[in-house]
Amino acid sequence: MKRISASFLPPIALDYRSKTPMYRQLYDWFRRAITDGQMRPGQRVPSTRSLAAELKISRIPVLNAHEQLLAEGYFETFVGAGTCVARSIPDDTLGPPAVKARKGLREEAGKLGPRRMSRRGAALTHVPAQSWLDNLGAFRVSLPALDHFPIGVWSKLVARHSRRPPRGIMAYSDAMGYPPFRDAIAEYLGAVRGVRCEASQILVTTGSQQALQISAQVLLDPKDRVWMEEPGYPGARQAFMTAGAQLIPVRVDHDGMNVAEIIPRGRNARAAYVTPSHQYPMGMTMSATRRMLLLSWAVRTGAWIIEDDYDSEYRFGSHPMASLQGLDADGRVIYIGTFSKVMFPALRLGYVVVPKDLVPAFSAAREAADIFSSTLYQAVLTDFIREGHFARHIRRMRMLYMDRRRALVNAIQIQMGDMLEVIGAEAGMHLVALLPRGTDDVAVSRKAAQRGISAMPLSICYLKPPTRGGLILGYGGANAHQIHDGIRKLRMSVQGH
Ligand SMILES: Cc1ncc(COP(=O)(O)O)c(C=O)c1O
Repeated sequence: MKRISASFLPPIALDYRSKTPMYRQLYDWFRRAITDGQMRPGQRVPSTRSLAAELKISRIPVLNAHEQLLAEGYFETFVGAGTCVARSIPDDTLGPPAVKARKGLREEAGKLGPRRMSRRGAALTHVPAQSWLDNLGAFRVSLPALDHFPIGVWSKLVARHSRRPPRGIMAYSDAMGYPPFRDAIAEYLGAVRGVRCEASQILVTTGSQQALQISAQVLLDPKDRVWMEEPGYPGARQAFMTAGAQLIPVRVDHDGMNVAEIIPRGRNARAAYVTPSHQYPMGMTMSATRRMLLLSWAVRTGAWIIEDDYDSEYRFGSHPMASLQGLDADGRVIYIGTFSKVMFPALRLGYVVVPKDLVPAFSAAREAADIFSSTLYQAVLTDFIREGHFARHIRRMRMLYMDRRRALVNAIQIQMGDMLEVIGAEAGMHLVALLPRGTDDVAVSRKAAQRGISAMPLSICYLKPPTRGGLILGYGGANAHQIHDGIRKLRMSVQGH
């Protein structure tokens, strides 16, 4: 057995006044000496007796440290031959951290190229750095009016459920969600959105993003074709890409997704993703004719329709059109909704209305992902809905967002009428403003981000390069002053880009 003499042991510095116990200091020292390469595999370790004598400490901490290092496999002993650093530790993993890091970097940059990951993983990182999402300044898309949220009521409800929580709130729970919350959601969707469902079909998720991810996982195989609105929601694109789907753009016009385009070529598609109540990002509503055409295509071809109803609570003037799901007699629609906009995004609560026969698969997929959502917040939100705060908050926010939208349109007309063309229905929490032809919207968004403005470039919503760029401007989270000031800064960003 090759062993290296113990005499090369580097000095051991112990801090006798430290709160860290002596055995722990010794254990840490040996472990670091081994992983940094100062002690090599097979090197002899001094006996506990001699080490204790050398360090002028009692033998007990030395014995304890030895035992721990033996138990963890850093040391090994041989009867009659003492203790040495385990010879099974591979030599090439050892070395000072700086050396290891440098070696790693060289490998990465060298002939090996980028380290291997799945094609799906690599595709996800093709999205450009989104500096416009680095701030919460004016026009941040999907940001509600947080300063108008009834935080007093909310915190009382949180306190009520936290004070003496029953076991049901603290223990593991149903993957589909907290039953009273699912009842409240089913009732709300039936009354307000014309969704036809039972509470047993509601799967509670951490927002629509997870709902999209789980839907993709349950419904799609790699290379399956999915029709996507063009332009469309990048979050949905990401979710379907992680399932390995092939995304096919279908143009939208003033009636929403141009369904006539998919009918002749849509035989082999597995699903279509749509935002019929308020197309994201352009803002139109899908016409009744298109809805029916889409449904009959799905029934005929056995495809799924994923309906993302992300902000239909906010429609100013006209009444919201009922959901597409409500027209579906064949269980082909997967209906997705979220509390991110009507409550606040960090709540991370959303839902899927799952066709009855798919409930076991969706439930199992949720279990495999992260088991279930926080029961505490599901219980709090149930009371918030049942006690009328939810409906009141939506009514108040509808008025507020209508004012904010008007303020934004006015500010654009006055300060940027020569540069921006506003499109989109009178609904939701954002609008699209087209830039002059030839303007690079990503460059404008980056410039605006440097001024603390969050204006999302329209082009990132396209699968194929668009003919004209634009900006998606959220007005939910910005007051009149921030809107006015934001447009001033946006003007400078367009001029100076
Ligand atoms: C089209 C669309 N769907 C869903 C969401 C909400 O996502 P989540 O519920 O995961 O917060 C957004 C937010 O921007 C959206 O624009």
